[in-house]
Amino acid sequence: MAKTVGVGITGGIAAYKIADLVSKLKKDDLDVVVMMTEGACQFITPLTFRTLTGREVVTDLWARPREYKVQHMSIAEQIDLLVIAPATANFIAKMAHGLADDFLSTLVAANTAPVLVVPSMNTNMYKNQIVQENMRNLLSCGYHVMDPDSGLLANGDVGKGRLPDIEDIYQKIIKILSLCR
Ligand SMILES: Cc1cc2nc3c(=O)[nH]c(=O)nc-3n(C[C@H](O)[C@H](O)[C@H](O)COP(=O)(O)O)c2cc1C
Repeated sequence: MAKTVGVGITGGIAAYKIADLVSKLKKDDLDVVVMMTEGACQFITPLTFRTLTGREVVTDLWARPREYKVQHMSIAEQIDLLVIAPATANFIAKMAHGLADDFLSTLVAANTAPVLVVPSMNTNMYKNQIVQENMRNLLSCGYHVMDPDSGLLANGDVGKGRLPDIEDIYQKIIKILSLCR
């Protein structure tokens, strides 16, 4: 049976790049379910991912699903891997502290599948001690955390914080999936 990858998109400038990732995963015959924070919807629309995946994109904890199911629980039961990309400093902090105040963070709290976190942010945010501490927390909980790339950032700064190449994220996903269930 095809494996299911949950892709959680948070509100970083690199959110648009995840369309390529989702498209690559779909070409591999993986089932992909996309969830977006309110912030992510400022950068790219759910319609893009709905079109690429053929599935509803979940953005709202309080939305009434077509079938009556508690969606964050039913999606948590379906997925073999949860990918958070791009992962904002804010969302990393929420995951590291178990906050569950929107759909995606509630799903993270209910999820038992492996998690791959792909941080992407300005280099000063990335180097911030609290952000680093939060990422160490995630690693110590068994989450996979990718190292961002270095280079020119969206605001013109140069440093570490760029979303890794989509091909590298894709390869990491395939590797983790090959190890699970
Ligand atoms: C133009 C713009 C670009 C942003 N890019 C990033 C980013 O790349 N990484 C990041 O961590 N936060 C970024 N932020 C800040 C987040 O959008 C903000 O912290 C937001 O609360 C994140 O919400 P979420 O984690 O629920 O998606 C950006 C904000 C703006 C206005």
